[in-house]
Formats: sequence, structure tokens, C-alpha cells
Amino acid sequence: MTLIAGNWKMFKGPVEAGTFCRALREADLPDDVDVVVCPPFVSLAESVQALAGTEIGVFAQNCHWENEGAFTGEVSAAMLQELGVYGTLVGHSERRQYFGETDETVGKRVRAALDAGLHVIACVGETEAEREAGETDDVLRRQLSVLEPDDNLVVAYEPVWAIGTGKTATPEIARAAHETIKAVLDVPVLYGGSVKPDNAAELMAHHAIDGALVGGASLDVDSFAAICRASRS
Ligand code: PGA
Repeated sequence: MTLIAGNWKMFKGPVEAGTFCRALREADLPDDVDVVVCPPFVSLAESVQALAGTEIGVFAQNCHWENEGAFTGEVSAAMLQELGVYGTLVGHSERRQYFGETDETVGKRVRAALDAGLHVIACVGETEAEREAGETDDVLRRQLSVLEPDDNLVVAYEPVWAIGTGKTATPEIARAAHETIKAVLDVPVLYGGSVKPDNAAELMAHHAIDGALVGGASLDVDSFAAICRASRS
């Protein structure tokens, strides 16, 4: 099964999210692809409601490791579940780059979300400098060292230099990284970084690439649905 997840980042408040999700319900989506959207926290409830009764899952973009407490600005797995959210992203490179997320905090967030019964897409990936220094495999292994195999865990390989830049990893680069990841952790691995309708099929063609985490191109229903169709196995 292929999984295509749309990471909306800090786009789409509740009104826009509801409009998008109602349009996605009507879109031509393939039966053999699992489709997920990841709205911002404030748009989760609207998205869950708009997608009720469909197979399309709603994921958050982050989740704290404690159930509740004095953690201003954070949201717990239990709170997400109360909303009917199915899973969460954890450790996106923007969280690591701009908000001080570390391998240790990623590990804690993933564990807590899985323990609470949420599905998790945990993100890993090297920067351009790390790739140029030949450190890609070491970086991936270090980032994966905090994770354990779990039926509800998926890893997303997102080379930081390919996110939002229009630079996509070549299928060869993506395959090599996916094989490294799968050798360490036996879970499905998504590719992320400038996935578009016109490059999705080529990327998804390899058996080590189990789907995609899509940013910019997931913000438009037609382009997101086109990626889902291009990714069918
Ligand atoms: P992009 O983002 O598709 O816009 O490159 C991917 C991501 O950050 O998940």
C-alpha cells in the first residue's frame, strides 16, 4: 500500500481547511493509496468533521510527550485523539531547524504518540552541508537511533535541501537513502522534498519508496489528487 500525506505546514485556517477537505472528498482518489492530510492544530477539528465517513486520515503536525502539564504552546496525544485525529507528524526538519527539536525530543514525542494509539510519520533527512561532507548515512542512523519499529510508525525521508526548493532528490538518491533507513528500521518509508504531480510516479516506482510526504503541492486539491493518482502501485 502506498501512503500519500499532505503537510500543510502553517497554511489554511479552519475555513480554508474545511473547503479543501470537502473538495478532497469529491476528488478522484485511487482506492489503493492511503491519503492523509496534516493541517495546523487550529484546523484539525474542521478537517476531521469535513472528512468524517471517508478513508482520508487527518494527522497533526506535532505532539508533546506529556499528557498534560505546564508546556505553553504544546498539544498532547490525548488531546489530538479527543478531536478524532488519526496520527501526527513528528520531527519535521522545520521543527528541528527553527524550533530546537532534537533527536531526543523527537524520540520522546514519537513514543508518546504511539503509546497513545496515534499513527506517526517521523521525519529524518540530511542538510546540504551534511550530504556534501559525506555524512548522510551517519545523520540518518543517528536520527533513527531514537526510534523503534512499530506497526503504526512510518518514517519520512526528507533531504532538507530538497524541501520547498524545487530541487528533488533523484530517484537514485532517494532509493539509496530509503535502503539505508530500511536496513536500520523495518518500517514503510515515504519520500519528501518537492514532490509534484510530474515527478511522483518516477519516485514511487521503486519498491523501497512507500509513498510521499508532500508540502507545497498538497495545498491545492487538484495537484494533491494528481499526486495520489500518479503514485498508485
Ligand atoms: P515540499 O515540502 O513538498 O514543499 O518540498 C515537503 C515537506 O516539508 O514535508
